Amino acid sequence: MDQPGPSPLELNRRNWDDRARIHGQDRIYDSRALIAGASSLTEVELEALGWAVGEVNGLEVIHLQCHIGFDSISLARMGAVVTGLDFSPVALARAADLARRCAVRLDLVQSEVCDPPARLHQRFDLAYATIGVLCWIEDVGAWMRAAFGLLRPGGRLVLVEMHPLQAMIDTVDPLVLDIPYNFDGPHVFDSPGSYTDRDAPVDSTVTVEYSHGLGEVVSAAIDAGFEIRRLAERTDSPCDHRGDLGPADPDGRHRLRLGGGLVPLLYTLVAQRP
Ligand SMILES: C[S@@+](CC[C@H](N)C(=O)[O-])C[C@H]1O[C@@H](n2cnc3c(N)ncnc32)[C@H](O)[C@@H]1O
Repeated sequence: MDQPGPSPLELNRRNWDDRARIHGQDRIYDSRALIAGASSLTEVELEALGWAVGEVNGLEVIHLQCHIGFDSISLARMGAVVTGLDFSPVALARAADLARRCAVRLDLVQSEVCDPPARLHQRFDLAYATIGVLCWIEDVGAWMRAAFGLLRPGGRLVLVEMHPLQAMIDTVDPLVLDIPYNFDGPHVFDSPGSYTDRDAPVDSTVTVEYSHGLGEVVSAAIDAGFEIRRLAERTDSPCDHRGDLGPADPDGRHRLRLGGGLVPLLYTLVAQRP
């Protein structure tokens, strides 16, 4: 009898292990700058934190899907007590090594994000997650319930995410859409390299990804028990997370132009556990 193939979660974890091995000195992740003291937080994350909590100094923060720990380290340097959570052991090992080289203390937890260990429940003032987290999650309701469960009453969620409208667009010219706006189940991709470098050596190239429209994300947050504090959409971004936006405009921001209009690139959701 045929052995069942790896689950979507296992395919994604293998891909993230491979990507975590190669990330760190590329167009997105500059380890040398981080170690020298630079923050990885852009104006977008800082704005979101300002809306959510003002200062992070002294707060207990859970960084969901922390990857190789750049933002975890940056938040810790701002005085937060940071726990980074990710399902990739390679990403967490890289985060631990970077934290050591930055002389920053991080608590790192390997876990599937929708099922965090019970010892973390209701321990945090802030749940923080950014850029490229929800597309790996089949059940956005479960993700929101997990984030809610990690927070103390009064705790805040900051989610800065790629806008689902731009996520639909594979190529602009010619215009090719490769994933729908709203959830319709799994989409399997087989792409070389990583978003940092398409030529980078990655063995596990198959991923399983999911769409989550803005209405679905906000409704999932409400259904989990959150009160929505802010929802902001941006048609500009300080970074080219897609890798195909070309040079920044004279104001230093990247934009995606389509048919004479601007496509939303990012959104920020701030919510509170009552
Ligand atoms: C695009 S990265 C997030 C980038 C992050 N904002 C940063 O600052 O580097 C996505 C992360 O989500 C993690 N991930 C994906 N699916 C996950 C899951 N189901 N549970 C936990 N972590 C997951 C991956 O290992 C990866 O580190």
